[in-house]
Amino acid sequence: ALIDKGNHRHFMQKEIYEQPVVVAQTLQSYLRPLDGKVALPIPDSDLADIRRVTIVACGTSFYAGMVAQYWIERFARVPVEIDVASEYRYRDPVMEEGGLALFISQSGETADTLAALRHAKAGGQKVAVVVNVPTSSMAREADLLLPTHAGPEIGVASTKAFTCQLAVLAALAANLARAKGRLSEEEERRIVRHLAEAPAALNGALAYDEMIEKMAHMIAGARDVLYLGRGPDYPLALEGALKLKEISYIHAEGYAAGEMKHGPIALIDEAVPVIVLAPSGPLFEKTVSNMQEVQARGGRVVLISDYDGIAQAGDNCLATITMPKVHPLIAPLVYAIPVQLLAYHVAVVKGTDVDQPRNLAKSVTVE
Ligand code: G6P
Repeated sequence: ALIDKGNHRHFMQKEIYEQPVVVAQTLQSYLRPLDGKVALPIPDSDLADIRRVTIVACGTSFYAGMVAQYWIERFARVPVEIDVASEYRYRDPVMEEGGLALFISQSGETADTLAALRHAKAGGQKVAVVVNVPTSSMAREADLLLPTHAGPEIGVASTKAFTCQLAVLAALAANLARAKGRLSEEEERRIVRHLAEAPAALNGALAYDEMIEKMAHMIAGARDVLYLGRGPDYPLALEGALKLKEISYIHAEGYAAGEMKHGPIALIDEAVPVIVLAPSGPLFEKTVSNMQEVQARGGRVVLISDYDGIAQAGDNCLATITMPKVHPLIAPLVYAIPVQLLAYHVAVVKGTDVDQPRNLAKSVTVE
């Protein structure tokens, strides 16, 4: 079928806006909200023996994997290692019995990821894939197929595939935890409820589009931008920086908020905007104290948090973006929206080719 941009100026914008619907669509195949259960297409008895998870991917899909590492270790207490595909394959990784190798890819065709999948399979690992194209090579070669239902993604910079990957990965983490006897019925019910709330929260986040568009003018003149986050929101800082680089060509770096004092703080001055991702939750205070270190050195901060977080820490910021207040589990999905929109609007201000950025390809089929 022919896909068009509808009322949107770019495919990327259309795909950002599709997220509440496609995340709901994806969750539908992994949750049974009425029973309060997660339901992956694999019996718990097959998951119970998994002793280690290895996550491998490239680009934005890799950052989804980083979020999953936090979730799987926290809920299922199974050790997780993670690597980019181009490194995994050539570092002679140790593959033990009982290892699940999990590959994440929008296209299911990325050459490095596919080669890594074959390598893991040859090494006796059980292979699971989270892919958006169910007819792809990775889908065909996997032992366990966990599709995202994002629909075709046309913009080269991935958006809706990412949040759908997170939805599947959260369900996987919960299902693995249950299979391992690590999740009470009550905890499972709670996780399912939080995940089921994600589409509405994504809608809530999209409501700040116009504000973010205005803010984009402040960022568009910068030569460098820094993104900071902690815990499961640290990969979102990396993703924010990647999106900005990819489509606006502004140099950007994502950093673990607590690691900033070991280097990037030397870069801080009023010319380097610092985007801080700090949802309310157990890590909020820590991230805010890192933010204050930036401000004490004259850095200009854009704080992305919820109403409470902004009331508490938003005072000396250059700007704030208010997100709906959500459970920390779904914050990585919700905070994807402002970082995507910010990159998008900055690119539009700069007049770059948003859907076809220079030197990049949608699916990289060379190693
Ligand atoms: C390319 C795209 C990125 C994508 C990456 C991995 O670099 O430009 O948006 O994240 O490939 O692609 P995959 O299809 O494996 O998720």
